[in-house]
Amino acid sequence: MTLTIDEMATFCKRKGLVYPNSELYGGLAGVFDYGPLGAELKRNLMREWWRFFVQQREDIAGIDGAILAHPKVWVASGHVQNFTDPMLECPKCGEKQRADHFIETATGKSADGLSRKELAAMAKELRCPRCSSPWKELGAFNMMFATHVGPVRDDASVAYLRPETAQLMFADFRLVAENARLKLPFGIAQMGKAFRNEIAPRNFLFRCREFEQMEIEYFIHPKQLMECPYVGEVEKLRMLVYSAEMQKSQRDASEMSLGDAVTQGTIKTPWHAYWLGKTFEWFTALGANAAKFRIRQHLPEELSHYALDTWDLEYAFPFGWKELQGIANRGDYDLKQHMEFSGKDLSLFDEASKERVIPHVVAEPSLGVDRSFLVFLYDAYDDDKKRGNVVLHLHPRLAPVQCAVFPLLSNRPELVEKARTVHLLLREEFSSVFDRAGSIGRRYARQDEQGTPWCVTVDFDSLQNDDVTIRDRDSTEQKRVPVARLAETVRALVRGKPFSGL
Ligand code: GLY
Repeated sequence: MTLTIDEMATFCKRKGLVYPNSELYGGLAGVFDYGPLGAELKRNLMREWWRFFVQQREDIAGIDGAILAHPKVWVASGHVQNFTDPMLECPKCGEKQRADHFIETATGKSADGLSRKELAAMAKELRCPRCSSPWKELGAFNMMFATHVGPVRDDASVAYLRPETAQLMFADFRLVAENARLKLPFGIAQMGKAFRNEIAPRNFLFRCREFEQMEIEYFIHPKQLMECPYVGEVEKLRMLVYSAEMQKSQRDASEMSLGDAVTQGTIKTPWHAYWLGKTFEWFTALGANAAKFRIRQHLPEELSHYALDTWDLEYAFPFGWKELQGIANRGDYDLKQHMEFSGKDLSLFDEASKERVIPHVVAEPSLGVDRSFLVFLYDAYDDDKKRGNVVLHLHPRLAPVQCAVFPLLSNRPELVEKARTVHLLLREEFSSVFDRAGSIGRRYARQDEQGTPWCVTVDFDSLQNDDVTIRDRDSTEQKRVPVARLAETVRALVRGKPFSGL
């Protein structure tokens, strides 16, 4: 049984994964707080992304740019002018709705990819849900949050909270390339908070006003846009592919290898196939269900103001196929804009071709942290009727707690003392908790529900033999392991050794 998104929100609140923000005061729509377990899971997820896409690669360097920037950054990027959502406003009662979402709810038809003209025509047939008046002409609403820097609150002091992490990777591009001694093709990565004043935040963590992104700007020599030296790594990966042409001709998505999708021209550049494949690989290696992913090309009407072509990695949420990661071809739009608005040269001397060039970003993998968090939870969640409790089958690298250590009986000081020693030993290398509250069965159930892969119990034999039992969350199988070999055993399990092979 799949949880609805509201049921998932309830589960997350009950387990201390995610809370509605400032609920004490009635909450703030589209803003959430991660609780004790959620903070750990989210941190682990982001660490795994950084490890895979930055630390384990020689062609990508990371930065940690600020949330605030000179407002010209957002003028140059086009966001001040173009970062808008279509908005419906009622001339009588002032009700405001995001046009595409309202039209979808009111008509039951998808508004994905409809042009402004099409949305306006559909809105003409509809009425304000509060007072039944016809809507005003279709408007536009800029989604950036504005604030003021310094004590004076006037037009000159306006600054914006970043709506994407991307722009500082362009603005800092020359410095990073020089400092990290990067040679084309290369990438700059960043993860962190972004803010969008969504007219209608919805679906729990899926569409928030404050959220986190994990983004890469990948720069390529303008004469080598079709040369991706790494595409062989993903050629054999099979994925459900849904091109713009398939959508227009109302055909179903089709499963094919990424290699075939490039050769047949369905995916126009090998770089798109490469980054879509790598992200799919990252998700599935961390336990996500491959059958719930597909890749979908944006229809021309859907493209962002900076994008020449965009493919999304989508996931089958209970509320439909939705974007996890957008991979836009931004061309040389951003660097050229920043050159024009700053008056500074952002070209680069490419030693291999002996040319000075403005590199292109053919593919910009931009992944939502909070959406990824939901994916891992959905694919881990298992309401195990036989066990009588929920089990979160989270990958050990993501699990908020890796080991829980128990004394078999909590009223026997010799067991409690030894269990504490074992917990302190494990805590040096892994995330470990000590728990002596309630029956042993209740303690196992509590750890299952928060996704702890291994429970370690100190019993009376442990006092004689200096060993413990280790219980596997997924199979509930138990083995005895000497305390002297416990850390190396857990290390091997985290690295993927099967429990049955211990
Ligand atoms: N940088 C692309 C995005 O935020 O969607």
